[in-house]
Amino acid sequence: MASVDTSTRYLGLHLRHPFMAGASPMSAHLDGVRQLEDAGSAAIVLHSLFEEQITEAQSGRIHGMDPADDPVFAARLAPFPRSSDYPFEPEEHFEYLRKVKAAVSIPVIASLNGVPSGRAWLSAARQMEQAGADALEVNFYEVVTNPALPAASVENHIIRAVTELKRSIRIPLAIKLSPFFTAFANIATRLDEVGADGLVMFNRFYQPDIDLETSRAIPVLELSRSDELRLRLRWLAILHGRVRASLALTGGVATGSDGVKGILAGAHVVQSVSAVLRHGASFLSTAVEELVAWMEQHQCATVEEMRGRVSLLSSADPSSFERANYIRTLHHWGR
Ligand SMILES: Cc1cc2nc3c(=O)[nH]c(=O)nc-3n(C[C@H](O)[C@H](O)[C@H](O)COP(=O)(O)O)c2cc1C
Repeated sequence: MASVDTSTRYLGLHLRHPFMAGASPMSAHLDGVRQLEDAGSAAIVLHSLFEEQITEAQSGRIHGMDPADDPVFAARLAPFPRSSDYPFEPEEHFEYLRKVKAAVSIPVIASLNGVPSGRAWLSAARQMEQAGADALEVNFYEVVTNPALPAASVENHIIRAVTELKRSIRIPLAIKLSPFFTAFANIATRLDEVGADGLVMFNRFYQPDIDLETSRAIPVLELSRSDELRLRLRWLAILHGRVRASLALTGGVATGSDGVKGILAGAHVVQSVSAVLRHGASFLSTAVEELVAWMEQHQCATVEEMRGRVSLLSSADPSSFERANYIRTLHHWGR
């Protein structure tokens, strides 16, 4: 029995501790889900239902790729997986969610992935709610390549989508984002204002490499390492106490200590995928042990007490703190 209180609240859910499995293939089968629960995952995010699956199932088309208005439709469609390549069709996905809910007692967070628009998307969110999801995470994974599209209109689209989702479902809604916004604090605050219950920071972008033999782009999926953590720590520290939404860290948590840093910066929960894929589900229980050890060593009785201890909440102007830190870092080189 731990002598400290590791409990936390995320999206209004009471969790035993902050460590949980993020969206990954491990949650695409019941054995994986049970293993995660047995290893102590405080909650679980299911692998995503993708926007392309939803629109394809509904209309036979992938959103934004209509043969009627795009003469090179077939070529554009080619790189997408066929519907049979996804673990489940949308209907099966909802059914699977029901089975997961029946199989485990930890909170289950469903996940939608893409750039939402239209009724099909909202209906998928509602069906996830009806299937028993305790919350919904929406991953806005998008690389905007249209030079005519200004940042403001991309952001307005996200805000509209979240507003509509909030009107359509009653379960809590978390938004998983990329760090690549000109003014991330602004979009975070706007999401908070339209009712996002959580912000999940940040998406990793899987950037293709170039094969020099074939002169082709090749997909690369490398698991993350701790050096990706610091970008997340910075933004957690900046947002802590400035938004009502709860904050989830995803990306670069390779050890329990990385998770402890995330909580000190302001995270309510720490999601892990790469570390779980690398070490197995037991990574999560080891991480909780490291958290307890840290708390005992630093006489910190509750997670609430440690959360945000190393944030920028007391800084009147986080921007000048960041600028001063930048200059100090450069000046310290070689000393
Ligand atoms: C193999 C694999 C599958 C993933 N599947 C999903 C997914 O279905 N939906 C999603 O939002 N993120 C997905 N992710 C991203 C993870 O949830 C997580 O945000 C990312 O890997 C960063 O966390 P990490 O550094 O702990 O790996 C996936 C990641 C990996 C490695």
